[in-house]
Amino acid sequence: MSTRHFVSISDYTKEDLLGFLSLSRRLKAGEVGGLPLAGKSLAMIFRKSSTRTRVSFEVGMTQLGGHALFISSAASQLGRGESVYDTAKVLSRYVDGIMIRTFDHAEVEEMAEHSTVPVINGLTDLLHPCQVMADLLTVQEEFGSDLEGMSVAWLGDGNNMANSWLNAARVLGFELRLGIPEGQDPDPDILAAAQGTTPILLTRDALEAAEGARVVTTDTWVSMGQEDEKEERVKVFQPYQVNREVMGRAHPEAIFLHCLPAYRGLEVSEEVLDGPQSRIFDEAENRLHVQKAIMMELMG
Ligand code: CP
Ligand code: NVA
Repeated sequence: MSTRHFVSISDYTKEDLLGFLSLSRRLKAGEVGGLPLAGKSLAMIFRKSSTRTRVSFEVGMTQLGGHALFISSAASQLGRGESVYDTAKVLSRYVDGIMIRTFDHAEVEEMAEHSTVPVINGLTDLLHPCQVMADLLTVQEEFGSDLEGMSVAWLGDGNNMANSWLNAARVLGFELRLGIPEGQDPDPDILAAAQGTTPILLTRDALEAAEGARVVTTDTWVSMGQEDEKEERVKVFQPYQVNREVMGRAHPEAIFLHCLPAYRGLEVSEEVLDGPQSRIFDEAENRLHVQKAIMMELMG
């Protein structure tokens, strides 16, 4: 294992990522017995809302024999301005791991730098690595564990999910087809790094992006913190909705993924979201299995 934090998919090798996914599959199949994290605690810091991330980490810790503490930034001293440095040092004296969801990615990096226990990124404005790991597990369940040769279409916003998909494509070597409007591109450094190593298509045409893809995925057009821009953003992204026409251009066996929460009828039509190609609830469940694997590897 090349690092003991889980901040970005790009910090890991292909072997590491496939190892996490393999352990996730064994956990899901009930093949891992015992309580590997008995007596251990995970601090979960949230500066943003969450349903899936909070519940899956908390339940995951319980299932592994450990304990998770929900710490909303507003109700802790972080919310009053206590430094990330001091928080990292103090929490490291109590707990065996820290999961953090926040705005600024640099805050997670700072936490990881100063914490003496593993830090797990539960979403930043830049990345959402645990979610894309769960998405990869869902893809493996459908198409087998060999992800090379896979073709994934991303439609909509070049946001934290798109950036993490780019990192995954780069490390694992699959094709990513991005259908993203001008001005909303992913992080330029992450995009450039992926473009140099794996097939990446960046087009302004949603149908071209979907062409032949085995996986079609999208995310909200209004990420946490962008609520004030909703009206304007909905107009910009309208041509990138995943609907029947888009799915019709993908591979006939294509699956649809969405990390959720979704604005039903905006980034995806309800017909696709609730249709036979949708795997959104398997995807949500897989957060639990993947994060248990990550916690076992890092904190076990
Ligand atoms: N997908 C995801 O991270 O969901 P939550 O915001 O509910 O945690
Ligand atoms: N891009 C979304 C993902 C939510 C899980 C956001 O950052 O709000």
